Amino acid sequence: MKVSPSLLSADFGHLAEELEFINESDADMLHLDVMDGVFVPNISFGFPVMKYARKHCHKPLDVHLMIVEPQKFVNEVRDCGAEIMTVHYETCVHLNRVIQQIHDAGMKAGVSINPATPVCMLKDIVSEVELVLLMSVNPGFGGQKFIPGTLDKVKELRQLITEKGSNALISIDGGVNAEVEAQLAEAGVDMVVAGNYIFKADDRGAAIAALKKL
Ligand code: DX5
Ligand code: ZN
Repeated sequence: MKVSPSLLSADFGHLAEELEFINESDADMLHLDVMDGVFVPNISFGFPVMKYARKHCHKPLDVHLMIVEPQKFVNEVRDCGAEIMTVHYETCVHLNRVIQQIHDAGMKAGVSINPATPVCMLKDIVSEVELVLLMSVNPGFGGQKFIPGTLDKVKELRQLITEKGSNALISIDGGVNAEVEAQLAEAGVDMVVAGNYIFKADDRGAAIAALKKL
C-alpha cells in the first residue's frame, strides 16, 4: 500500500523537523490539504507552506485542494512543485477542462469526491485522471471518524476503473488507521492518506510501517 501522510496533523511549530521525519520515513508522498473556508468550513495553509514543504521534503507532493474555483490556481500549485494536483468534483463545473489544465501544467491530475457524491459521477472522467481520492470523512478537519460506507464505494470505483481501462490509483482520505486499512486493502485501494494516525502516534515510524505493510 502506498502511504501519503497528511501534513495537516503535523506540528507547525516544528515544520522543518516534521518534514525531516517524512524524508526519513517509508512514506511514498506528502499530502498537503489546502482549504478556503468556503468549500469546506475551515482554513488551513496556502502557497508559502507548500513552497516550504517542497524545499525541505524530498517526497512527491500530493496536493489536495478543498477550494472553490481551483482552476484559478493551477500554475501556482505547479510552481510550488506539486506532483499531483487533486481537485474536487463538487467544485468544478468544467471538470474535464480543469483536468486538461493540470496536465498542460505538467502535473498528474486527481479528482476527489465527498462522501455524499456517488461514484457513478466519475464515469466520464475516470479515464482522464491519474488519481481518484475518495473522501471517507466530510472534508475540512483531521481526526474525524472513517465513514464505513466508503468501502462499498471503493469496490464500485475499482469496478468502474477496470471497465473503463483507466490507470487511476484509488486513494482514501479521512479517518484511516491500520484497522480500517485492512478492509480497504481487500476492497482494492492503492494508497491511503493518514494524518492523525501517523502524526499523533507515539511511534510514528511504526504507524507508517503498519499502513505500508498491507
Ligand atoms: C480532511 C483532509 C484530510 C485529513 C486527514 O479534510 O482532506 O487529508 O488531513 O486526516 P485524518 O487522517 O486525521 O482523518
Ligand atoms: Zn486531504
